[in-house]
Amino acid sequence: MGAPPTPAGVGGALPALQDRSLHRTRVRHRFARGGMGSPPLLVTWAGRAPRAGGEPFQVDAMPARTPAQRSALVTGANRGIGFEICRQLAVRGIRTLLTARDERKGRLVAERLRREGLDVRFHQLDVTDEGSIRRLVDFVGSDPGGVDILVNNAAVYLDDGIAGLEVDLDTVRRTVEANVYGPLRLCQALIPLMRRRGYGRIVNVSSGSGQLSGMGGGSLAYRLSKAALNVITRVLADEVRGTGILVNSMCPGWVRTEMGGRHAPRSPEQGADTAVYLATLGERGPTGGFFRDRKPIPW
Ligand SMILES: NC(=O)c1ccc[n+]([C@@H]2O[C@H](COP(=O)([O-])OP(=O)(O)OC[C@H]3O[C@@H](n4cnc5c(N)ncnc54)[C@H](OP(=O)(O)O)[C@@H]3O)[C@@H](O)[C@H]2O)c1
Repeated sequence: MGAPPTPAGVGGALPALQDRSLHRTRVRHRFARGGMGSPPLLVTWAGRAPRAGGEPFQVDAMPARTPAQRSALVTGANRGIGFEICRQLAVRGIRTLLTARDERKGRLVAERLRREGLDVRFHQLDVTDEGSIRRLVDFVGSDPGGVDILVNNAAVYLDDGIAGLEVDLDTVRRTVEANVYGPLRLCQALIPLMRRRGYGRIVNVSSGSGQLSGMGGGSLAYRLSKAALNVITRVLADEVRGTGILVNSMCPGWVRTEMGGRHAPRSPEQGADTAVYLATLGERGPTGGFFRDRKPIPW
């Protein structure tokens, strides 16, 4: 990929973008950057608040059903963080539905986890395809195990190293379709099933790139999509408050995956940890929050 053309009239304002790889490096540093200084005032807890000093708060053990009786659905799980979330959930005894848009790849990795003795099934899911979502919802709706946990992990990052002034609207649309409408469709389809059971955990895998506090230039489509995903978290958390369903966003940090690249400091195992923590919160756990490393971070 060559360096992107300098936008007319703003060349001086965006010098880093003349070197796409430098810009990419900067963007990725932002992924990894902490930004955990100021406490997010809008996170609410069904139970007690986190202890002073920012320690990970204590969560209660799951009530009524044991983790072994719970079931989870993870999107975009044929590789990267999604795959690792599946593994970590299944290791905890949670019956896990690994989904992927590519049937062959998804079946292959689900089989790999089954060979490790884990309770992992596969179902095809392209989060941008209405028909695919409908087939999945029919499948889980007819399963007595249902879905207790939804991890919206699937995402695309199509404008890495591209200036907001340069990005074409088709790229923005395709990004929003996968990263925003996909998770929203799944929430709208699965929350009614969770409501009936009086239990649900929704984890939206967001990104520090979507944090409005400290947001910089570049990657407009991706940033927009993750900020919008956080809106979904806030709105739905409020709408389902008191029904036993907790909805949270998280940032995995900068992780060594196809998206994060091989120079990222975190392993997929580390990247998956906070998602799994939020997926297994006790009944008095937080809802409507944004987390990294199991701690609240600013929006
Ligand atoms: N890696 C990082 O440094 C980092 C940092 C912050 C946030 N995140 C977030 O963490 C999550 C996982 O990222 P990752 O690093 O594991 O990325 P990744 O390795 O690129 O994996 C992305 C996954 O999403 C799937 N996907 C994309 N579009 C899809 C669609 N329409 N339907 C279903 N699945 C689709 C991909 O499937 P295919 O294999 O078919 O393409 C792949 O399985 C994403 O939400 C990402 O934004 C990552």
